[in-house]
Amino acid sequence: MKQFESFRLDTSNECLWQNKAQINLPPKPFAVLRYLVENPGRLITHDELLDALWPETYVQPQVLRTYMLDLRKVLGDDPARPRFIQTLPKRGYCFVALVADTGAPESGAAYISEAQPAVFDGVVGREQELIRLKTLAQALACGQRQTVFVTGATGIGKTALVEAACRQMIAMLSANVACGQCVEGLSKKEDYYAVTEALRQLRASACGEMATRILASIAPAWLAALGREPESTTVDARSMQPKAPGDLCRALEELAKEKALVLVFEDLQWANDSTLELISALARRRTPAKLMVLATYSSHCTSAEHPLKALKQDLVLHRQCAELALAPLAKTAVRQVLSRELEQEMLPPGLDTFVYRHSEGNPLFVLALLRHLISEHFLMRDGADGSGRWEQRAPFPDMETGVPQELEQLIDPEIERLPPTEQRILEAASLMRVVFPAWAVAAVLEQDRTEIEEACDKLARRLCFVHRAGHDELPDGTRSDFYAFAHGLYREVLYQKQTASRRAKGHMRIAERLGELFAGREDNVAREMAMHYEAAGNWKRATTALRTAARHAHQRQAHAEAAQLLQHGLAISENLNEAERRVIEQEIQSELEMARGAMEGAKQPPKPPEEIDGFWMGT
Ligand SMILES: Nc1ncnc2c1ncn2[C@@H]1O[C@H](COP(=O)(O)OP(=O)(O)OP(=O)(O)O)[C@@H](O)[C@H]1O
Ligand SMILES: [Mg+2]
Repeated sequence: MKQFESFRLDTSNECLWQNKAQINLPPKPFAVLRYLVENPGRLITHDELLDALWPETYVQPQVLRTYMLDLRKVLGDDPARPRFIQTLPKRGYCFVALVADTGAPESGAAYISEAQPAVFDGVVGREQELIRLKTLAQALACGQRQTVFVTGATGIGKTALVEAACRQMIAMLSANVACGQCVEGLSKKEDYYAVTEALRQLRASACGEMATRILASIAPAWLAALGREPESTTVDARSMQPKAPGDLCRALEELAKEKALVLVFEDLQWANDSTLELISALARRRTPAKLMVLATYSSHCTSAEHPLKALKQDLVLHRQCAELALAPLAKTAVRQVLSRELEQEMLPPGLDTFVYRHSEGNPLFVLALLRHLISEHFLMRDGADGSGRWEQRAPFPDMETGVPQELEQLIDPEIERLPPTEQRILEAASLMRVVFPAWAVAAVLEQDRTEIEEACDKLARRLCFVHRAGHDELPDGTRSDFYAFAHGLYREVLYQKQTASRRAKGHMRIAERLGELFAGREDNVAREMAMHYEAAGNWKRATTALRTAARHAHQRQAHAEAAQLLQHGLAISENLNEAERRVIEQEIQSELEMARGAMEGAKQPPKPPEEIDGFWMGT
């Protein structure tokens, strides 16, 4: 645990504390802060930070700026008079606060209780949200109508939270609860589909008789639409009239007079205009009512033009609704979910880190990953009858080369739902790994950069898994925007979706564009070019680029790195034809000898050669 001013950085649980409040940072900003805090009082160059954070990927330094902005916001730091992060223009950053090592969190009993997220009714790590919902429920009990939107990425836990909140309100207020599920595709076919579903549930619930009576007297057309009572024979002329939303509002308010009424609408991104209009009317009416609309929607599937966005923004503006935007679970919460699922307190070492890294705190992915590890026997119970503790039986799988089928099946429909042009953009982006510049996407698709930038901007505004990550000035003086996949799993699925030949073509175009953009300064991007040439299967250009990168490393006295690059060049030169291979191998061997000689000369303790394979794009 590292302490600076009122902050404590809990490196084992990957979270930040300010006094008693836990601040959850996404994995990358956390890693940036951790690196700074672990290296206080000295200049950390852009290169050093990028190497530490993206050891296997070439990333433009500008990307760091976005993370620094976010961190400064969290720390309340002023770049003009920094208390924590000082920018040293064109060079890097320095963490200027005094840092004290306060030992492992386990050494302080207080930290243990803080580090354990509370579990409410089976929901882990959503304490703040449930407290907020409880406060809203108290206001509801006093007749203040409530409209609450629970939003977030697919699988983030919207339904789980809403269900827990409903149980909370049933226990607190004996509330009547009914739920209408919006269904993709149905909205165009059936007006008020989700509303009708909720009304049917109401009629089947304990307050069903009263609901039917009230509907019959105030909103007969709505009752008629639900299907007549079997014993009802007379056809009331009023029931033949069109369903007026105002009638239903009044009927629901009447029903909510005695006991609070909670109407849940799930997945409003699929709702049609009529359902949204009814929600709008219920939220804006002024008469006191113990009526709550609790609605979920997936922010990922909602475009900026979706009428739901406009409705919510208008209600927020007029303080007529509350929004609970669900963030990913913190690592501690992921650990707790795993402990609960496996029914054991002590987890196999490294399991929480593996699952947290690949799920990035999305509970749906946490559970899918765990099921995958169990079904593929990475995790097994010990004991002769298989009833003992869960233990790790094999090294956890490399998620870079294949996303488990279950996860792919979760992610794929979301991608398939996007228009084909957007799918192509994201697939092109996936060739660049986590951070991707618009110019590279434009190069792959052979399209205009400005148009691609505009399209990427739209995607970043709409999709949960793509973010704007800053901009950079290219060697030709133009500006190019950067974007990042917030979730590595989406990138993997997008990458694997493409045929090998399409990927190869894309990699080739990126490598060539890099060469054009950095003409005369190829040294700076040779490593990146080599990666793309290799992924494109162009072994000759890949070995040439690796040798250029090695020469560049050699000039920087980074002899071990040079040797490592040459060794990799040697390995891939095996793919060349016999005649070419012999010549190139000889040349690389002599360059390798030079690099090794330089390593000895510099009396550097030779670094164990790092495994470089992981760096190269799997094809
Ligand atoms: N806070 C949590 N603690 C433990 N388990 C959770 C939590 N949140 C969600 N889960 C589990 O994760 C899975 C996905 O959650 P849920 O269905 O609530 O997500 P969602 O946001 O509603 O997804 P969708 O966007 O598909 O509607 C479920 O199995 C749920 O029980
Ligand atoms: Mg849901």
